Amino acid sequence: MKTFPFIYNEPRDFLKSLQPKAWADFFLGELSPRFSVTAIKAKVIAVKEETPDTKSFVLNPNWLWKGFQSGQHVPVTVEIAGRRVTRFYSLSSHPNDKYLQITVKRQKGGLVSNFLNQNVKKGDILELGEVSGEFVLEKNLPKDLLFLAGGSGITPIYSILQELQKLNGDRNVTLLYFVRSYEDIIFRSSFESMQKNASWLKIHFVFSDVPKEGYESGFLTKEILDKYVPNLKSTSVYVCGPAPMQTKALSLLEGLSVKSELFLLPGQNVTKVKKEGTVDVFLSLSHKTIQVKGERSLLEELEEQGIYPQSGCRMGICHTCVCKKQAGSVTDLSSGEKSQLGEENIQICVSRAESNLEIEL
Ligand code: FES
Repeated sequence: MKTFPFIYNEPRDFLKSLQPKAWADFFLGELSPRFSVTAIKAKVIAVKEETPDTKSFVLNPNWLWKGFQSGQHVPVTVEIAGRRVTRFYSLSSHPNDKYLQITVKRQKGGLVSNFLNQNVKKGDILELGEVSGEFVLEKNLPKDLLFLAGGSGITPIYSILQELQKLNGDRNVTLLYFVRSYEDIIFRSSFESMQKNASWLKIHFVFSDVPKEGYESGFLTKEILDKYVPNLKSTSVYVCGPAPMQTKALSLLEGLSVKSELFLLPGQNVTKVKKEGTVDVFLSLSHKTIQVKGERSLLEELEEQGIYPQSGCRMGICHTCVCKKQAGSVTDLSSGEKSQLGEENIQICVSRAESNLEIEL
């Protein structure tokens, strides 16, 4: 505690006031933009075009990077028009690879996915955060495994398949990859060579929009599962894809061992409800009152009005957007539960305004 300017009760407080880490970061940054003692910065060492709308970014992180497990995702922060924006992307490389790789498909209206695909090039620096995610292989792996991937939901699964290749066990693994067309298959050449060389792995592509001779077309159905996974009952299933595919998979696989990871497209994380009128949201730190409709998440409705609170996953996982609600009621969009009127922490990416609100922002 500081009792008088320049006099500190604790030597530790005095040292802190000098902000040694900020100075170290400044000087290290002068040596190389990748160097830092506070942030995981990664240099883009290659950009690979996977499909017309998907690129992989090969990254060389600094010494703060602590590694990951196949199937996990990492927050990536970029600065767009002077504003820091964070999104989560699955790692598509193997944990033992020399470099990391994220693979990003452009989403319609996706601020960061479009920015990365359009602007980021070899030599640029991206800021990463701590990895997270439970979509990883179980410890006691059964013999039969099924992976259901939809669109860019293939990225964590691709890393997991590389892990299985390294484990080299006596397993039967099936991948059913649902994608719009042959041209949209991400990692296509790797899959084609895996299919030739890995007897433990069977890969089937299913095209939803553009059928191709010799391939399945359509969506996930019981018939497709029965056709390609005859021993489904004894199979552990991993599902990663957009919400409709996920819902379908969970209903078809009820009672089985299923691990799933949802891939959300911008604006897809909430059910939009039609409401009459607006409610007032008082932002207590900036002393501002704005009106929102309470039709979508608070995060989206604030962003629409040019207010950009911190956010990451935008689906209620990472807690980056947590802030204190001081008064008023919200609906938690992941559970559908309405909150009490009193003080509590809320995740604004999955909270919709129900009444006038006061939040600490
Ligand atoms: S942004 Fe990740 S929980 Fe809200």
